[in-house]
Amino acid sequence: MNDIEAIKERHSVRNYESKEIEAEKKEKIKALIEEVNKEGNLHLQLKENAGATYNRLLNRAMGLSSAPSVIACVGKDDETLEERVGYYGERLVLEIQKMGLNTCWAGTFSRKNIDADVADDEKLVISIAVGYGKDQGRPHKSKTAEQVIEAKGDKPEWFNKGVEMALLAPTAINQQKFKIRLNEDGTVDIVDKGGPFSKVDKGIVRRHFEIGAEK
Ligand SMILES: Cc1cc2nc3c(=O)[nH]c(=O)nc-3n(C[C@H](O)[C@H](O)[C@H](O)COP(=O)(O)O)c2cc1C
Repeated sequence: MNDIEAIKERHSVRNYESKEIEAEKKEKIKALIEEVNKEGNLHLQLKENAGATYNRLLNRAMGLSSAPSVIACVGKDDETLEERVGYYGERLVLEIQKMGLNTCWAGTFSRKNIDADVADDEKLVISIAVGYGKDQGRPHKSKTAEQVIEAKGDKPEWFNKGVEMALLAPTAINQQKFKIRLNEDGTVDIVDKGGPFSKVDKGIVRRHFEIGAEK
């Protein structure tokens, strides 16, 4: 499975089988985490046993409490942290999808029960539930390309492909509060229009755009 196929097949999954993730796959996830931590200057951590991470009332109502494992998204606290978490976390999400597992980004979780290792200069931003889904989720309702594009004149094919993949990205409460601006010099900006976790969304959307645009 390539990145584009993983993007198309990925949907948030909130109900998980009790089946544990195989040791071999957990090792692969840990190796990937080590790689993105180096690349993104992050401290993401796989918690093999999610324990009571998703015991909040809202989680129990939505189903995430069945997730067997979780990735705690931690990093050195600076103004770029949330976007980096989104950008590198989504790389993990897509690789995990290719391994036949399912995920759900989750801003609602117990910050205490996740039991993450967070140094004084670090911050725990968000969690990603990981496991074998009871189903594969379903496509989200999406804005149209016209609703998110800011561009004058003709749009090149690579740009349209990037936008198409960006619209398949997970965003908090499916808000899709971003614009994709094609500048006159051919550069692209992902513009964050605000909302909960919108900086994390921005990183996720940038990852998807780059995959679609092959840039
Ligand atoms: C930053 C972020 C935070 C999220 N927080 C939660 C959450 O707390 N609980 C939950 O059930 N889903 C959460 N989600 C999942 C979104 O609801 C989901 O991505 C969105 O509805 C789009 O659906 P899809 O992921 O299936 O494409 C979050 C997603 C993102 C990107």
